Amino acid sequence: MAEVAVQSERRSEGIVINDDWPGYCLDLFSYPAHYSGDLDCVIVPHGVIMDRTERLARNIMDDLGDHDIVVLCVLKGGYQFCADLVDRIKALSRNSNRTIPMRVHFIRLKSYLNDQSTEDLHIVGAEDLSFLAGKNVLIVEAIVGTGKTMKTLLKHVEAFRPKMIKVAGLLVKRVPHSSACVPDYVGFEIPNRFVVGYALDYNEYFRDLNHICVISESGKMKYKI
Ligand code: HPA
Ligand code: MG
Repeated sequence: MAEVAVQSERRSEGIVINDDWPGYCLDLFSYPAHYSGDLDCVIVPHGVIMDRTERLARNIMDDLGDHDIVVLCVLKGGYQFCADLVDRIKALSRNSNRTIPMRVHFIRLKSYLNDQSTEDLHIVGAEDLSFLAGKNVLIVEAIVGTGKTMKTLLKHVEAFRPKMIKVAGLLVKRVPHSSACVPDYVGFEIPNRFVVGYALDYNEYFRDLNHICVISESGKMKYKI
């Protein structure tokens, strides 16, 4: 038992990217020319995201592979991570004797304007999730900051009485005053900087960037609302 607990603690940290790490110089990678000048550095290159996602898929399969799963993708930022994670789970499932029936559903949350979290977090077009009753639910989220969004979402999902809820977060941001709401599966723990790319946006821009990058001050100015 103790060993399992230690292992899941270690897992939930993910790959830790320290505050003093400057990131990769943008010139080392290719990225859309329309974003030149809008970014400070690459913090997680696309290939590393994919490799880490493959491992998360394996961890998820090891823990949940004997059950049906309902994947709940948190839009919009989570669409890319969810698509790639589900893809890897399917590949692992194909290559082993354990195929898991998987359903994928979407839920849309909105709380950010510019680079600031707004108070009025809301679930956009909330659909009836009563089909979650008695199911094993895997919530897939791109980024967890203060944990406020995750807490609200968990409360919302719990109300539909699923059998189990696990959370996969690609990124966990080290922010002050974060609630103890840490995902069960974490890709990377990152510094408290505003990041974009791999479906993460700044006012809807940068979703078409493959790497996860730190936005520059001039990028923030350019796309400010
Ligand atoms: N980038 C994009 N969306 C976000 C972030 C971020 O750093 N934090 C919370 N939502
Ligand atoms: Mg956003």
